[in-house]
Amino acid sequence: MANKEETANVPGRMTVPKFAALKGSGQKITMVTAYDYPFAKLVDEAGVEAVLVGDSMSMVVQGHDNTLPVTLDEMIYHAEMVGRAVNQALVIVDMPFPSYHLGKHKAIENAGRILKETRCQAVKLEGGADQAETIRALVSAGIPVMAHCGLRPQSVHQLGGYRVQRDAAALLHDSRAAAEAGAFSLVLECIPTEIAHEITEKISIPTIGIGAGPGCDGQVLVLHDVLGLTSGRVPRFVKEYANLRTTVTEAVRNYRDDVRGGEFPGKEHGFE
Ligand code: KIV
Repeated sequence: MANKEETANVPGRMTVPKFAALKGSGQKITMVTAYDYPFAKLVDEAGVEAVLVGDSMSMVVQGHDNTLPVTLDEMIYHAEMVGRAVNQALVIVDMPFPSYHLGKHKAIENAGRILKETRCQAVKLEGGADQAETIRALVSAGIPVMAHCGLRPQSVHQLGGYRVQRDAAALLHDSRAAAEAGAFSLVLECIPTEIAHEITEKISIPTIGIGAGPGCDGQVLVLHDVLGLTSGRVPRFVKEYANLRTTVTEAVRNYRDDVRGGEFPGKEHGFE
């Protein structure tokens, strides 16, 4: 049987075992969201280890003010586009609310649809100890699961807002429960750096942080935040690596001005 180091170094496309074996390899893991073909192709070409078709799509693509409205059919529609574009990274799809809350069988049926109807390889769901049974059932059905603890945006109403989660004992308990149930990786969202670091040291699966500091095994960000496409206030944990808002508005304004001024289309854009 291959050891962890051998598994992590197998050439070719990222797989679930290779991803899991990155823990402790010394290589930090980068994950980013994508929701459509052109951006998914670009992020794959950039060389990230994983692409997440996040239910953040509800907010950044559909314009809702939380992640609750997006449906399973909509997630699958977008995951198909991403699945067609990516051929190197691992592609993980968020199970939307409440597609895994109605019992293990329904969760397997819904996660099964994601794997059957898209070319994606794994699902993500929000939960720790409370979802351990569902995680175990999905994994037994051959469906790889990434868990998500800390701030769980699908529980925004119960949490009373998007707040930093500080209950160290509960966070460690949830993280351990997810790992013991068979999750291959764990997102830790909006928790203090020290707690995320401690969890990362205590569990055997890679932790992927967002607003959880540098002590995690990897990091994830929403693509629209990375590219500076998000209008309004972005969370403190975001780093914008580009300002596409300005690039896009300037390009379209220049196009409009050229059309109005008769400078576009030019002779070279027409046919004899
Ligand atoms: O939906 C999403 O984009 C996510 C990430 C922020 C982890 O769950």
